Amino acid sequence: MGRFYITTPIYYTNDAPHVGSAYSTVNADALARWHRLLGDDTKFLTGTDEHGQKVSDAARKNGAEPQEWVAQTSLRFREAWDALNISYDDFIRTTEPRHHQSVQKFLGAIYDNGFIYKDVYQGLYCVSCEDYYTLEASNDGRCPIHGSVLTEMQEENWFFRLSAFEDRLLEYYDQHPSFVTPETKRNEAYSFIKGGLKDISITRTSISWGVKVPWDDQHVFYVWYDALINYLTAIGYGRDDGEVEAWWPYSNHLIGKEIIRFHCVWWPAMCMAAGLEPPAHVHVHGWLLIGGQKLSKTMAAEGGVKLTDIAPVSLTNEFGVDPVRYYLLRETSLGNDGEFSLEGIAHRYNTDLANNLGNLVSRVCTVVATKCGGRGPLASNDSVLRSVAEGAVRGATEGWEKFNPQSALEATWSLIGATNAYLEEHAPWKMESGVELDAVMGDALEAIRLVAILASPAMPAVCDEIWRRIGLAGTPTESVLSVSSSWGQYRGVGAIEKGAPLFPRIKIDG
Ligand code: MSP
Repeated sequence: MGRFYITTPIYYTNDAPHVGSAYSTVNADALARWHRLLGDDTKFLTGTDEHGQKVSDAARKNGAEPQEWVAQTSLRFREAWDALNISYDDFIRTTEPRHHQSVQKFLGAIYDNGFIYKDVYQGLYCVSCEDYYTLEASNDGRCPIHGSVLTEMQEENWFFRLSAFEDRLLEYYDQHPSFVTPETKRNEAYSFIKGGLKDISITRTSISWGVKVPWDDQHVFYVWYDALINYLTAIGYGRDDGEVEAWWPYSNHLIGKEIIRFHCVWWPAMCMAAGLEPPAHVHVHGWLLIGGQKLSKTMAAEGGVKLTDIAPVSLTNEFGVDPVRYYLLRETSLGNDGEFSLEGIAHRYNTDLANNLGNLVSRVCTVVATKCGGRGPLASNDSVLRSVAEGAVRGATEGWEKFNPQSALEATWSLIGATNAYLEEHAPWKMESGVELDAVMGDALEAIRLVAILASPAMPAVCDEIWRRIGLAGTPTESVLSVSSSWGQYRGVGAIEKGAPLFPRIKIDG
């Protein structure tokens, strides 16, 4: 058993959460749940990024003080995560005093180590990205991501000597081949470093909404510079009651592909400059797209995509919590882009959930309730389903291990498919009560028991319900996987009832 510290990016509080933000969070949640199932010491952190110009502009536009605005918006993230059954251990807000304290300590250490100096910054800035562009990297003075006109900036700023870390970063990448996954994203970060690193401006005098620079009270830190440090704040960096040694560098940062440079170049360099190890692992995911366009709060504000219909809470009201979670985890491989659609959710729901999983549970419970006296029989040792089940456990383990929930769920569903085929073959609904029927149903119940364990990171509430329906005591996550995953442990203690369908089919128009 190991240690697993998983983080989501912290979300900007310029607007409410949407399905794109839910994507990062549900994936991180499922990974955290898997590691808890393994028995790992697990810590799952999410939160909100509340400083910066984008957020203070949003507050002003809405006629609110920044403090009041971020408090309201941050609450909307918590509500969305509650609706999606997100099991975070800590929710960080960057306006909290604990964060200001850690940021000042961390950047103070970099300053003391001689990697921060003062100079004049001149360049182009995109508020939506909270990022700088050179003229060459822009589209004729427009942001390459948002298309908006970039703002010319000139300020006396404090700079971080990022250029001093080029060689050390390359060496770190060479020595830690899986520091960044998938490999394509690792190569992207690596080539960026190889292309040469420029020092970066890390403070502002033009805004006051930020963490104060401890050695110069005219300045606040640039939002990205404070935001990245949240991963250390949550484990108490710079505080007496901190647990940095327990959780660092065992961190796994799950991030979207547009923030690679910050997490895979700046952040490890910042850690080195402060005298810490870089994080253990960064996994980069793609975007959910609608009609080929990234789903983002900024675009919605510009009228590009209508988000009100696809707020996480409206989705869970429409399809149920676990089906939405399942869709986000199963539809695309965590690393590629994927097209998001309501039809796509309905399709997955009807095929994988109603036809496969729901049908399996319902068939088995109906036969056991009517023909086996309501009690679940035991599985046979030499069942043909045994090796399929063992393969599913291996496949799921490998999938979750590699940050690939899609393949973990595919492996899990292969057991559902094989069990449904096994039932088709034996047609227990046509068999007489007796030992032969009991043998078939015992095998099927055991397969369902294992499915409920393996699918629990994706669909925790549904799996608890399946566990109860097949007459088991406790929950699928009560024992660690190494104990619960071997074949033949089904011991029903309760009566099995037919029950209402777990996933009533959705009618798709057209
Ligand atoms: N505040 C920064 C992160 C700081 S982390 C130290 C930020 N915030 S964000 O709200 O703009 O984005 C947060 C995460 O949501 C990113 O990983 C981003 O990729 C993800 N998503 C936002 N829209 C998305 C999609 N349409 N699809 C998938 N994820 C996307 O960046």
